[in-house]
Amino acid sequence: MDAVSPRIDLWLMPLNGDAVDHHGRWLAGLDDAERVAHDRHAKDQDRILYAASHALTRYALSQSFDADPSHWRFAEGPHGKPRIADPGPAIDPRFNLSHTPGLVAVAITDGLELGLDVEALDPVSADLDTAHAFAHPAELRHLDPEAPDFLAAFYKLWTRKEALAKATGLGLSLEVRQLIFEDEIVDHWHLIEFDEGTAHRVALLAELNKGRPEFVMHRIVPEEMI
Ligand SMILES: CC(C)(COP(=O)(O)OP(=O)(O)OC[C@H]1O[C@@H](n2cnc3c(N)ncnc32)[C@H](O)[C@@H]1OP(=O)(O)O)[C@@H](O)C(=O)NCCC(=O)NCCS
Repeated sequence: MDAVSPRIDLWLMPLNGDAVDHHGRWLAGLDDAERVAHDRHAKDQDRILYAASHALTRYALSQSFDADPSHWRFAEGPHGKPRIADPGPAIDPRFNLSHTPGLVAVAITDGLELGLDVEALDPVSADLDTAHAFAHPAELRHLDPEAPDFLAAFYKLWTRKEALAKATGLGLSLEVRQLIFEDEIVDHWHLIEFDEGTAHRVALLAELNKGRPEFVMHRIVPEEMI
């Protein structure tokens, strides 16, 4: 990867019932801190999502920056945003990962801040009460729970707001319901968003300070990540 090129690589890996067969291999490639974080998850499903997304992150970083997947060490920003520890003088690898039932993802760049969110479309979670927790009143006016496209509109806004919280690094500390997404990203963030199949929504924000980024998409299955 060209060190000054504003390029983003987005990696998506769907997970199905076979993911359990890869769990041990993914876990074996993580470092001690990741294994501790993995073990904090009580449910097997969450452990698999953790192991898969962190293994994918190591794999994708190594594809972009020509290093062994075991090379990478991680640190955290003040609100918990993971970053590469001691990247060295020549490259500035940045990443943001996201996991949701059925899909794990990571975005990788050299020197651009990123925020990524993937969500499984879940009709049980999509209601107006939940929307009040993340939508500005001006945004709520466009969410009609009786409309046929409510599920899609709900997750479009959810992933946008979550990507913004993650791009800034503030996470839960960002008062997303006090912000109008469209106003926040103008002149600051480049947005890439799409439906992934019929069951997932993806939103990715990349900082704009180095111009419009080139976007490269990678879809892989667990068997390819060796
Ligand atoms: C942790 C948070 C940043 C994202 O959580 P999430 O959407 O549940 O989960 P995602 O899978 O998209 O992202 C989790 C990953 O983001 C990364 N992350 C953690 N803190 C972060 C931060 N402050 N900024 C950016 N990325 C962060 C981590 O890699 C984490 O994965 P890991 O714990 O396996 O290492 C936080 O914003 C959160 O808990 N949000 C959920 C709150 C909510 O209800 N949002 C409604 C829509 S706005």
